[in-house]
Amino acid sequence: MTQSHVQNFLQLTEHFSQAGNPLASGLYAESALFAAKEVSSSVQAGHITKHLSKPLEHYTGLLNTAKNLALETRKRAHAPFSNFLVGAALIDEEEGLHQGCNVECSSYGLTICAERTALVSAVAQGKKRFFGVVVAADTDNLTPPCGACRQLLYDFAPDALVVLVNPRGAEKRFTMKELLPEAFSAAFL
Ligand code: THU
Repeated sequence: MTQSHVQNFLQLTEHFSQAGNPLASGLYAESALFAAKEVSSSVQAGHITKHLSKPLEHYTGLLNTAKNLALETRKRAHAPFSNFLVGAALIDEEEGLHQGCNVECSSYGLTICAERTALVSAVAQGKKRFFGVVVAADTDNLTPPCGACRQLLYDFAPDALVVLVNPRGAEKRFTMKELLPEAFSAAFL
């Protein structure tokens, strides 16, 4: 995480507050403070919270619940071929959570990643807009979504905060746009 993450998260906090999206604004406000702490930069909490309609702790709690859900769902991964267990949790526009894990297939190429499992399950529940994505794997160098997942996530969650975690409490945060710059989308069709 870098100082430019702090700046970017602060800008997004303000942008989504003005755009009337309190959830995205809150998730980025929380992330601005998280990134500032990581890079030992000082950000005045008051400068951030003035944009929010709910207390900052509300978004900390929501993110903690989503992180725990991704870590728990990871344990259900069906990964007998790689033994690489991944969990994911999506935050929808109403703060609902949707979980997924990777499901591997004897015909290896048919394997589906945790992020896509969560996404298709959420769509089946009638949800199509997401503002947060958590990915949990047991790696010290935190596991990011693969290229295919980035594209599918981008279609439904271009403004999402992406949180990477492991079971030992390590954590990094990005924006979806940062992970898929110059993205293809339905806007081109
Ligand atoms: N995998 C995921 O579930 N998500 C990712 O972001 C990276 C990879 C899975 C697919 C496969 O079951 C295993 O991890 C090894 O590639």
